[in-house]
Order: sequence, then structure tokens, then C-alpha cells
Amino acid sequence: MGAVITLEDVELRHGGRVILSGLSGTVDTGSLTALIGPNGSGKTTLLRAIAGLHPLAGGRIDRHGVSSADTALLAQGSHLDRSFPITCRDVVALAATRVGAFRSIGRGRMAATSAALDRVGLAGMESRPIQALSAGQFQRVLFARTIVQDAKLILLDEPFTAVDTATTQLLLSVVHDWHAQGRTVIAVLHDMDLVREHFPHTMMLTGQTAQWDAGLQAA
Ligand SMILES: Nc1ncnc2c1ncn2[C@@H]1O[C@H](COP(=O)(O)OP(=O)(O)O)[C@@H](O)[C@H]1O
Ligand SMILES: [Mg+2]
Repeated sequence: MGAVITLEDVELRHGGRVILSGLSGTVDTGSLTALIGPNGSGKTTLLRAIAGLHPLAGGRIDRHGVSSADTALLAQGSHLDRSFPITCRDVVALAATRVGAFRSIGRGRMAATSAALDRVGLAGMESRPIQALSAGQFQRVLFARTIVQDAKLILLDEPFTAVDTATTQLLLSVVHDWHAQGRTVIAVLHDMDLVREHFPHTMMLTGQTAQWDAGLQAA
């Protein structure tokens, strides 16, 4: 399998400030990779850059023909606004309109939405507003949304933070489904036991002098 992402001398900034620079490396098609590094090392910014949502200050990222529609980003929970009055069904179904198989509006989309909510253990919760959910339940909804996006490249930003052990195990089984289906998955993680047990590849951002440097290492 060839590379799905090639990073070449990537530099990322916020405002004028360099977050990371000189970052090069590849991610293979169908690989399952943990992105690790200390807080503030630029993991979220890098995922957003890979998704095409953060501009490059230097270098290039080649996604080898994988389009934005083929890319799903599950954002860090704490970065999301949950005050919007919307149901679990709608959070999932709205994502299903964006891509391939579920593009048409109608029964297919609703069936896919129900199947995805069922897969993450939320069957029967379709009409529940997202404000009424626990952190773990909300994360399940975000996974259901990612399932219906049917993306080739799946980027997960701290998917198990504030999620209990049982829910983590369930959501890990979804990650393994994606891997078995040949999708490429990159997940920002902190739990090194979980990384060692479940993620064959590791990308580590190591800020050598604070945030100024980053190295990409393939384990
Ligand atoms: N919107 C922003 N504006 C300015 N600086 C930011 C912004 N978001 C993140 N940063 C800074 O960029 C650096 C990297 O942040 P981030 O990518 O969120 O790191 P990580 O996900 O590894 O914790 C941090 O120093 C953070 O303070
Ligand atoms: Mg982050």
C-alpha cells in the first residue's frame, strides 16, 4: 500500500507564532496511527492541516487524491459547542448528506443514521437533544456521525477523553472496523497503554525547545 498522506517540511503557525516546523513523513493507506505528544505540541493544528482546515505556513501536504469529502475529522470534544438545540438523529443525518452512498436524502440516509446510532449503542436515542447527553454519549454520537460520513481518511482528535472505559472499548471496536475496512485512521491519544495495545503506528510530536521544533517519528 502506498502513502495516503505525505508531509514535506511542513510549518504550521497560529497568527505569527510557529507551532511546528520541518515536519516530514508519510502515512500509509489503510494504516492505523496514534498521534501523540504533549499538550500544546500542535496535534490538533496538524490534524486540521491534514484535513485542509488550517493553512500551511511552509512546506506541503500531499493527500494523494483523497478529497475533503473523503476526509472525516472528529474534533476534540472540548472544542465543540453543544448548546445548539439539535437531536442525535440530526447530528448524524446531516453528516450523511455530504458523501457518496448517502448523498440522496430519504430513507437510505435515515436507515444509515439508525444503523450508526445502533452500532455505538444509542439505539432508541434518535430524538434525544444533544444537550441531554453525557460526555460519553455525545462522543458516541460523534462516532456515529463519522460512521455515516463513510470517509477514506478518518482523523480523530482525543476521541476517548472524558469517556468511560466501557464506552472506550466500544468506540475502539468501531476504530478497528474502520481499519479492517481499509480506511486510514489517525487518532490523537494520551493513554500510552491504549496506544501500545491498539495502534500499530505512532507519530510523535516532540517540542524540543517549547513549541518551536517538532519531529515526526514512525514507530
Ligand atoms: N486559535 C488559536 N490561536 C492562537 N494560538 C493557538 C490557537 N489554537 C492553538 N493555539 C496554540 O498552538 C499551539 C498548538 O495547539 P494545538 O494544536 O491545540 O496543540 P495540541 O492539540 O497538541 O494540544 C499551542 O501553543 C496553542 O496555544
Ligand atoms: Mg489538541
